[in-house]
Amino acid sequence: MNPELEHTAKALVAEGKGILAADESDGTIKKRFDSIGVESTEDNRRAYRELLFTTPGAEEFISGVILFDETIRQDASDGTPFPKVLESRGVIPGIKVDKGAKPLANAEGETVTEGLDGLRDRLDEYRELGARFTKWRAVISIGASIPSEYCLWTNAHALARFAALTQEAGLVPIVEPEVLMDGDHTIERSFEVTSRTLHAVFTELRDQRFEPEGMLLKPNMVLSGYECPEQAGHEQVAEWTVRCLRRHVPAAVPGIVFLSGGQSDEDATANLNAMNALGPHPWELSFSYGRALQAPALKAWGGDEAKVDEAQKAYHRRAKFNGAARSGAYAPEMEAAAVT
Ligand code: 13P
Repeated sequence: MNPELEHTAKALVAEGKGILAADESDGTIKKRFDSIGVESTEDNRRAYRELLFTTPGAEEFISGVILFDETIRQDASDGTPFPKVLESRGVIPGIKVDKGAKPLANAEGETVTEGLDGLRDRLDEYRELGARFTKWRAVISIGASIPSEYCLWTNAHALARFAALTQEAGLVPIVEPEVLMDGDHTIERSFEVTSRTLHAVFTELRDQRFEPEGMLLKPNMVLSGYECPEQAGHEQVAEWTVRCLRRHVPAAVPGIVFLSGGQSDEDATANLNAMNALGPHPWELSFSYGRALQAPALKAWGGDEAKVDEAQKAYHRRAKFNGAARSGAYAPEMEAAAVT
């Protein structure tokens, strides 16, 4: 056992704190910038990330930030490298190391995540650049006859190879098997597919000798498909999700950090809050949100230097609400308060 891994994993799920996912790939950040009419240039990406990373007081609720390859090599406008900017605020830098989901051969509509070749060397470099944890995302779609077992086990095998290599490098892996909630499937179907996914992932992790104490799981919540006519409420989502996790995630794993996956920012907060209200649980239940932490800030910024302050306040507000959801202390009424 490497005690540094357990120490970092626990720090990432410290009381009242969670992770900001700011590791959008070039394609994804372009999509986000298109939505506010801003061109995705290297300098605009740098300015936007600097806004987030230097938000006053965000470190009260944010334990770590997941960076993209370009970002971990960039400097803030005062010349300080971004990993140092984060460290100086007590925020742990992390890095997305996968190379994206690509079509899976002989499996129409399914993908497998690439990025294992050369990963050992890249991990060493990222550690030098200041990263203390890593992330790899597998993507599972729900359809009439998918996911196939072939897709689940292929992705689980790759996730476990990533996790083993990451731990060997002295870094904490965030293992992210995302079951997409696009579609009209019921919450029962989400539960079934998420269960099969987690079964495959933890079987592969065990076979590949992972250290449960030195990892975090980043799963989807068990939701009704976004186009399902019957939408489960927050309490139902919390019950289904916690039941699924209790069946599959070892108690030795320090924390589960959910992705938001296209839920509204308020739903993502309310669902996490409902789960923590059902506690105590064997693991910390926290967040590693991208869109649900950034959406209001991105909109407030709109590429305008003069709006940085407003955007930082919007980000701080979501971070604070999600911090409250870590202990079941969030209430939707808080949303009515003006941004201050
Ligand atoms: P979302 O919270 O926007 O789903 O992003 C989290 C993430 O890191 C996806 O890989």
